[in-house]
Amino acid sequence: MNPLRILIMAAGKGTRFKSSWPKVLHRLAGQPLASYVITTAQSLNPEAIGIVVGQDAEKVRSALADDSIHFVEQSPQLGTGHAVQVAKPFWGPGDGTLMILSGDVPLISCETLKALVESHFQSGSSVTLLSTRLDDPTGYGRVVRDASGEVVRIVEQKDATPEERIIQEVNTGIYCFKTPDLAGVIDLLSAANSQKEYYLPECVGLLKARNQPVSAVLCGNPVEVAGVNSRVELAQLEQILRERKTRELMREGVTLIDPSSTYISPNVTIGPDTVIYPNVYIEGNSRIGRACQIYPNVRITQSVLEDRVLVLDSSVIVNSHIESESQIGPFAHLRTDVEIGKKVRIGNFVELKKTSVGDGSTAAHLSYLGDTQVGRKVNVGAGTITCNYDGIQKHRTVIEDHVFIGSDSQLVAPVTVKEGAYVAAGSTITEKVPKDALAIARSPQVIKPDWARKRRESLKKG
Ligand code: UD1
Ligand code: CA
Repeated sequence: MNPLRILIMAAGKGTRFKSSWPKVLHRLAGQPLASYVITTAQSLNPEAIGIVVGQDAEKVRSALADDSIHFVEQSPQLGTGHAVQVAKPFWGPGDGTLMILSGDVPLISCETLKALVESHFQSGSSVTLLSTRLDDPTGYGRVVRDASGEVVRIVEQKDATPEERIIQEVNTGIYCFKTPDLAGVIDLLSAANSQKEYYLPECVGLLKARNQPVSAVLCGNPVEVAGVNSRVELAQLEQILRERKTRELMREGVTLIDPSSTYISPNVTIGPDTVIYPNVYIEGNSRIGRACQIYPNVRITQSVLEDRVLVLDSSVIVNSHIESESQIGPFAHLRTDVEIGKKVRIGNFVELKKTSVGDGSTAAHLSYLGDTQVGRKVNVGAGTITCNYDGIQKHRTVIEDHVFIGSDSQLVAPVTVKEGAYVAAGSTITEKVPKDALAIARSPQVIKPDWARKRRESLKKG
């Protein structure tokens, strides 16, 4: 057999990004650039996947951590050829096939890579590179062919003659090598070029010079092989992915009032008849059910909304789960770990954190509920605050079924309000409220008859 290993190059400095953050961790539609290539590599079921990391290697490792990946550290980074030299313990020796991918070419598809491997096996070439034809090839290595059309070598933009720069067929930075043939030339690279780097593509010319067969497979879709070398290119791919996703959703029955201002990450799913207003962000692996309505300026991250949920303007929902027919917002903040039951109403300026709210309950105005369990059919009055933090630790509040919390109350945790109890408005509750009881914790009202009138009159006289 001919075992396939995949090596992803992701150690580059990303100079053109002008960033203190490693390029391959910059996010495309919410996910690190390199994670796209890793997922595609995994879909090919290779014997092993290696990734070369360099700039901020530790950050990259922890962001991409996955048991199935071998990390190779390249430091300093002396070019793509050097990256493959450093990774030799991962891929050599042996009699297999090494596929090389670039961490900054995120949209390459599994189908294209399968076609590349197949062609590589059929032709028996020492190297098969994936090329594409670009109207504007600026910045890419050019594929130089001889009079008979055979691939001879690759020349980088910066080293190319004016004649070579006219060539529109470019190297995508994706290759399949016969492992022993790569091993035969990888240490022969020279850095005698304009960038003083060891170029991996030089292997193509070296193999050809040894009369070993080299070939290229042309990728018909330049978007798949677009490299992300700058923030401009990142934004271009971001737009392509966004349009792909919004078109897919509309085909599946989702209404987007203005697709161009709707930002939905690739892994999000949305049920039919859901309507999404402009300037909405839905991120991560969020799932939105059927017939929901998401009003403008809402961000939903890593959350689940079941069917017929209404999210009104300017709400933020993170790491939360909302059951069907509930209503959130406007201006609500479900900060994290929030579980909302069915037919719940969470209104304006209500913030929830690590809190569950049972079916049919309401917190309609100006509240903070943190580390709280709210039962069913509870009314949380306007301005209710759970005082969950004592300056050192967080404590829980439990509000059982059918409780009524009057407006402007504070519940000083840890505290429980038992089933059916009633808390009078303006109370500061510090102790358990028994079942069906009324708790009033405020100073009693004092009436001083005619006090106001007398004061006015005395002021007038003075
Ligand atoms: C590279 C190719 C070029 C091709 C283009 C396609 C070289 C010399 N040139 O150019 O022919 O047209 O890709 O996108 O290979 N990297 C390392 N270690 C290093 C340098 C780079 O791991 O020392 C990684 C980078 O993180 C990146 C990839 O290799 O993921 C490509 O490097 P980059 O500097 O972007 O090469 P290009 O100039 O785009
Ligand atoms: Ca690149």
